Amino acid sequence: MSNRKPLMAGNWKMNLDWKQGLALVEELGEQLASVDTSKVETVVLPPFVDIRTVQTAVEAGKLPIAYGAQDISAHESGAYTGEVSGSMLAALGATYVTVGHSERRQYHGEDEQVTGAKVKAAFAAGLVPILCVGEPLEERQAGRHVEYTLAQLEGGIEGISAEQAKSIVIAYEPVWAIGTGEVATPDDAQEVCKAIRDSLRRLHGDEVAEAVRVLYGGSVKSSNVGELMDKADVDGALVGGASLKAEEFARIAGYQG
Ligand code: PGA
Repeated sequence: MSNRKPLMAGNWKMNLDWKQGLALVEELGEQLASVDTSKVETVVLPPFVDIRTVQTAVEAGKLPIAYGAQDISAHESGAYTGEVSGSMLAALGATYVTVGHSERRQYHGEDEQVTGAKVKAAFAAGLVPILCVGEPLEERQAGRHVEYTLAQLEGGIEGISAEQAKSIVIAYEPVWAIGTGEVATPDDAQEVCKAIRDSLRRLHGDEVAEAVRVLYGGSVKSSNVGELMDKADVDGALVGGASLKAEEFARIAGYQG
């Protein structure tokens, strides 16, 4: 057993307006009453326009839920129409931000340079980046999934300090498993999550490698989370579709029993 606290993060993607988001987070708070929240960290990642509402609900209800955003600007402030800065997110009490989700890479052309800059912007604002990495189907079929994923990892964390590396969260999300219902096998997930930890060890040493939480993402549900969490190097899950239902997401958070 590692000392790493499991982390279950719900990526709402472009779903739920602020009223629907409020209903979900309040219901999630109720459902989590039956989960030992000292043993698992539960996080929601709503659309930007819901975050203020989520903040209010979490603070008013003292809910055991942390929250964050799905993206961050690489810039601090200024003429960047449509973007949201790290300091704006920090001012809302956000803790986490996903960086380099495959949908950002695919639809917005985010490469290692962009994700690297966003990781640094998150740290500069005091946020914890959840750096998403993972291979498309053709890379897996060609047997290049590990090297492809590690190149994304190493590009994304280039230039960060060991202290920063220690607090980062990495999410391994094979693109072919996202939203498809096709979950990676626990052994597939373990292979790459271990390779990620080994790479962190090479770059930043044992202490960092042992501290960093490596999540698996891609069609995680309450029915498959347990076998994934049994693997030594899987420390949590980044959950899309199944995080939109309070009861199901609370079951994922309570996977231990
Ligand atoms: P999914 O999405 O759980 O719906 O497959 C995961 C993600 O994209 O973070």
